[in-house]
Amino acid sequence: MTFDFSGKTVLITGGSRGIGAATARLFARWGATVVFTYRSGEEAAKATLASLGAANHAMYRLNVADPAGVQQFFAVFAARYQKADILVNNAGIFTEHKILDTGYNDWLQNWNNTLQTNLTGAANMCYFASRLMVEHGGGKIINISSRGAFRGEPDHPAYGASKAGLNAMSQSLAIALAPHNISVHVIAPGFVETEMAAETLEGPSGDLIKNQSPFGRVARPEEVAGLVAVYASNGLEFTSGGIADLNGASYLRS
Ligand SMILES: NC(=O)c1ccc[n+]([C@@H]2O[C@H](COP(=O)([O-])OP(=O)(O)OC[C@H]3O[C@@H](n4cnc5c(N)ncnc54)[C@H](OP(=O)(O)O)[C@@H]3O)[C@@H](O)[C@H]2O)c1
Repeated sequence: MTFDFSGKTVLITGGSRGIGAATARLFARWGATVVFTYRSGEEAAKATLASLGAANHAMYRLNVADPAGVQQFFAVFAARYQKADILVNNAGIFTEHKILDTGYNDWLQNWNNTLQTNLTGAANMCYFASRLMVEHGGGKIINISSRGAFRGEPDHPAYGASKAGLNAMSQSLAIALAPHNISVHVIAPGFVETEMAAETLEGPSGDLIKNQSPFGRVARPEEVAGLVAVYASNGLEFTSGGIADLNGASYLRS
């Protein structure tokens, strides 16, 4: 696949590693200016930034769950880049909190952290990015959801709920923002080979999970990045509001 993102500014949350880093590299390779955020892993972020090559790319430390931090970030971002053509809401957390094995305080903390990061964090980014997009004639928002929104996440219930919420929010914003030439897309991967999934995939259930797909494997981060780039390309605006499965036929929903 070839793309042309020259002249485009792409903002990616959680771009320091995993799917976000693969997405940052793909956009940089095809000519975009890439701005990515990370929460705290500065070494990984620096390594990813170095891998993007010489251009006006940048990384910023930002907790998307911190409303004031997001507002301050956009003030800095708008002053330096003026526009965001493409926003990829990728930052996310996946923490275990089995209902019958988790103390109530831990339960509450997991729900708060997960919803604030995976759902409200994305909503906060959409809030400010959409204003910049409206000012500049439009844009594209691509939200990274999960198969878990549909299949259930028995050991990570807040995660499943956060991704179902992200799907619903994306569909609402797709309707609200279409008159401003902003399309909103969702990609729902099954398991992907990243640090987030490493413990599960390397554990006793790893082979079982890989064999959920008739391909006998899980997704690669580059495959998710490739679909992000497809949605970010011109001509796909009319798929706005849709949710694309990327799970190797491991879970088919009707
Ligand atoms: N891996 C999978 O199997 C899988 C499957 C379906 C969906 N997804 C979704 O795909 C997205 C990326 O997952 P991944 O596997 O690439 O994850 P990952 O390897 O764990 O990377 C997560 C990224 O998000 C950042 N991040 C986490 N919390 C943040 C916060 N509060 N504010 C800002 N950045 C934050 C991390 O920054 P630091 O490194 O600084 O913490 C890191 O850059 C997530 O939304 C995830 O839910 C993943």
